[in-house]
Amino acid sequence: MKSQYIKEIFKSFVNEDKQKFLEYANAIISDEKKLNHQLFANELKDIIENTDKVNVVHDPDYNKYYKRNIPIPRDNEKGFPLLELKEYELNWDDLIVNEDISYHLHSIEKGFWNKEILKTYGIKPKQKILFFGVPGTGKTLTAKILSNVLGFPLVYVRFDAIVSSYLGETATNLKKIFEFIEKGQWVVLLDEFDVVGKQRDDQYEHGEIKRVVNNFMQLLDNFDGESLIIAATNHEQLLDPGLWRRFDDIIHFELPDEKEREKLFRFYFKPIKKGKLDNTRLAAMSTGLSAADISQVVSESIRQMIIENKTDISIELITSVIDMFLKRKKLEPNKI
Ligand SMILES: Nc1ncnc2c1ncn2[C@@H]1O[C@H](COP(=O)(O)OP(=O)(O)OP(=O)(O)O)[C@@H](O)[C@H]1O
Ligand SMILES: [Mg+2]
Repeated sequence: MKSQYIKEIFKSFVNEDKQKFLEYANAIISDEKKLNHQLFANELKDIIENTDKVNVVHDPDYNKYYKRNIPIPRDNEKGFPLLELKEYELNWDDLIVNEDISYHLHSIEKGFWNKEILKTYGIKPKQKILFFGVPGTGKTLTAKILSNVLGFPLVYVRFDAIVSSYLGETATNLKKIFEFIEKGQWVVLLDEFDVVGKQRDDQYEHGEIKRVVNNFMQLLDNFDGESLIIAATNHEQLLDPGLWRRFDDIIHFELPDEKEREKLFRFYFKPIKKGKLDNTRLAAMSTGLSAADISQVVSESIRQMIIENKTDISIELITSVIDMFLKRKKLEPNKI
């Protein structure tokens, strides 16, 4: 395949120039025929004959293929990338949440699988979701899992970086992000979303932030893409009430209860096969710890086992690590 053709095909994709795309695609097909690669040429022809597929990206593999070649939008002034593209190998088994949340999340996923049927009723899957809840409860993790199970790469947007680094540029930056999102099918995570409420004290910034919020709400309302947009925050009380109404679904991530903590200990201790750990006891003594804390308690216990040259983890060792984490939690500054 001529490298010039490949370059032109990529350019036509970026410029959304369907005509150019077809021109070069046909040139490649005829070249392949000349090389006697009949089968390959026919396969390519079959793909482009259904040109509808060329307009909007539906196929997750297609997304993966182009992922690294799509120019990432950047901030005009400082040139930093406005988003990151990521992929994960995470599944629902990696998330321990209560049944209510689990049901909600699975129904979001199923909405996408039933997109075509929903369409016949004039309905779309739920595409704009707000995750809120205390740190370390699985908001970011869930976005990563949804990205993997749906097969849509994750577009990660550090919302606070976009907004606070250069307030005046925010509207342009948000517009660029939404333009990018609409070109493909992604799980878009707008992380640290609460920044829109954080800087209310400053009079000048207050007006600016208000404009940013209004601008964002407009973009969200007008969004007509194929992606799943997730906004995540742990300061939901700072969000503008108008914003809440914009979401198709709102999911509250809570600290794990005793039953969930037991599952978390079992899950994170899985790599340690030696000895039997009393996970019920561990769950009972760890009230107030988040899922992220429990995963850290486990790592810390394993680390201590290794550096102390032990072959097993004792319940006393884990108890002391849990105590350390509980004490540390009490000292945590209030982030608001
Ligand atoms: N519900 C959960 N089940 C299993 N593991 C979890 C869960 N929640 C968090 N973890 C573990 O803790 C790590 C950090 O969690 P995550 O980043 O999803 O928290 P978060 O809710 O986004 O927190 P923050 O509000 O600080 O952004 C995860 O990568 C995972 O290892
Ligand atoms: Mg997070």
